[in-house]
Amino acid sequence: MEVVIRDSQSAVAVEAAGRVIALVQSAPASQLGLATGATQQGIYQLLIDAHRSGVADFSSARYFMLDEYVGIPVSSSTSFQNVLSNDFLRHVQAPDGALEVLDGNAPDLEHETHRFEVALGNAGGVDLQLLGIGTNGHIGFNEPGSSAESRTRVVELHTDTIHSNAHYFESAESVPRCALSQGIGTILEARSILLIATGESKARAIAAMVEGPATEDCPASLLQKHPNVTVIIDTAAASMLRTREKVTTRAQASSG
Ligand code: F6R
Repeated sequence: MEVVIRDSQSAVAVEAAGRVIALVQSAPASQLGLATGATQQGIYQLLIDAHRSGVADFSSARYFMLDEYVGIPVSSSTSFQNVLSNDFLRHVQAPDGALEVLDGNAPDLEHETHRFEVALGNAGGVDLQLLGIGTNGHIGFNEPGSSAESRTRVVELHTDTIHSNAHYFESAESVPRCALSQGIGTILEARSILLIATGESKARAIAAMVEGPATEDCPASLLQKHPNVTVIIDTAAASMLRTREKVTTRAQASSG
C-alpha cells in the first residue's frame, strides 16, 4: 500500500483527481469504478473542471457502480446512481449507458448482483477503483465480517453506517437497512485502487487498514492483499498512524 499524506482535504482531492485525470489522458477508454460519499465530491468536481477546461475527456470511459441502497427511487437525492449522475457523469458528457448500474430496485436483487458481476467480467474488470472508507473500516458496503472472497451481493448495513449516513436522510430510521455492494473479492480484482479519506473520524479505520492485521474485522485491511493500492489521506485521517513520519517522508520524496 502506498500512503500519501496531504495537508488538507482539498489537497487530497487534487492529488486523487490528478491520478484519475492522468489515467484517462493516457487511456481514454479506461474503466473506472465509482464510489459515492462526501469524500468523493471534491474529486468529482475537479474531474468536471478538467473536462470543462479540455484537460481530460471522460466521454469514452466506462463506469461501474460500487454500491447502491436497496429500495430508494433513482430520482431520490440519496440514490447513489442519482448522485453519480448529478455530481459527475452528466457534466462530463458520459453517454447514456456508460454507467453499469447496481439497481437497488430490481425485482430480483440476487439476480441483479449476479448480472452486475457478469457485466463487469465481460467488460474485463476495472482499471481503477475509487474507494472511501467508513469509520468502521467498511469499503463499499462491505461491513466488518465481510470475507476477502465476497462477491457483489445484498448486504445489511451496520448500525455505525446507518448513523454515519443518517444526515443524508430525514432520520436514522429512514436509512435503508440493506444495500447492494461489490464484494471485497470483486474489488480486489480491480487493476488499481485509490482509497481516499479525510478527517479525524477516519483516523482509527486508516490506522487499522494500513498497520493492523489483514482481517475481516476491518474490511479495508483486506486491501493489503492487493499489489496496487494507493491511499490518499489528510493529516487528520493520518493522525493515528504510528508510521506516519515514514510515509510522509516517502510521499514527499515521491512528489519531488
Ligand atoms: C459509498 C461507499 C462508502 C463510502 C464510505 C465513506 O459508495 O462505498 O464505503 O465511501 O462510507 O463515506 P464518506 O466519504 O461520506 O465519509
